[in-house]
Amino acid sequence: MPAQSRYAGIIGTGSALPDRVLTNFDLERMVDTSDEWIRTRTGIRERRVAGEDVAASDLSVEAAREALANSGVAPEEIDLIIVATVTPDTLFPSTACLVQERLGAKGAAAFDLAAGCTGFLYALGVGQQFICSGTYEKVLVVGVDLLTKILNWEDRNTCVLFGDGAGAVVLAPVPPGEGILSLYLGADGSGGPLLVMPAGGSRLPASRDTVDRKLHTIHMQGREVFKFAVRILGEAALAALERAGLQKEDVDLLIPHQANIRIVEAALKRLGLSPEKAYVNLDRYGNMSSASVPVALDEARREGRLQKGDNLVLVSFGAGLTWGAAVVKWSMD
Ligand code: UT7
Repeated sequence: MPAQSRYAGIIGTGSALPDRVLTNFDLERMVDTSDEWIRTRTGIRERRVAGEDVAASDLSVEAAREALANSGVAPEEIDLIIVATVTPDTLFPSTACLVQERLGAKGAAAFDLAAGCTGFLYALGVGQQFICSGTYEKVLVVGVDLLTKILNWEDRNTCVLFGDGAGAVVLAPVPPGEGILSLYLGADGSGGPLLVMPAGGSRLPASRDTVDRKLHTIHMQGREVFKFAVRILGEAALAALERAGLQKEDVDLLIPHQANIRIVEAALKRLGLSPEKAYVNLDRYGNMSSASVPVALDEARREGRLQKGDNLVLVSFGAGLTWGAAVVKWSMD
């Protein structure tokens, strides 16, 4: 591979969460479940739920404004907006175009990207490429999902797991050897049926029948996804570390996809890392899909968990099936 001459780094982060909290005890009154089951099987205690009038672009704009303020970048300076989501406001126009308009980022190209819960890692990689190639100077990457909008609230297998939120980062060139040091992305389409929203696309367009059969909601074979996740999180993180020329011992902070504490623990074990090395907020937010990694990243930064020069590993898995990991040398003061 040719030597890399430009490096892309995160120069600002932001996040947005709906105010409404739905606890496990609230769910006990909705489906046949218990706080005890949800806590011990997943680690989740509560999640946020967006109001009826709130859509992906609303949370995205809030998170993006925070990330822009944190980076000191003005909306007009943004060259590209990528929104990773599986719950866009509408299939078209893209949520990224709605965000561009509301931010006043007039000079920016904009598009959405879907890779299930791995969407943010994929979008980070795309943004990185545009900066490393010299095409763009400032890229806004948003991970947003409002999975509560596509849940079947009668299905206890899925409705207890997910929450809503958005996270954003601003990418820009950083000195060589800083910022995103490596990226590892993967997909296995044979696992598609394990996690799917069957209707609403060109395969099964919306009809009275699809609505009656609740085919516009998440259908998941949880145990199969669990087995895949337990294997892939550790594998992906190790592959990204190898590409960055780093060892497990070099990891200062791991920010994993926040789906299930047992999956996070398995990844920590595989990597030989102690629990303090992982940032976990799934107890408060549940699984926020594309938003989970960037929201955790923003909280970790605000809590002072990231020091300049730290080696950070971001890692996720999701529908597709997809997976991705990135090693980032933290370049913010
Ligand atoms: O971002 C990617 C999105 N997906 C995931 O991350 C999901 C990955 N999978 C998981 O996290 C876990 O598989 C779950 C949390 C979904 C399920 O945990 P599990 O330990 O794999 O449970 P299970 O599916 O093997 O189910 C065990 C039992 C079943 O009852 P029976 O058949 O043994 O009688 C379920 O019906 O638990 C039952 N169950 C529940 N009980 C109370 C399933 N959901 C619930 C519930 N409350 N909410």
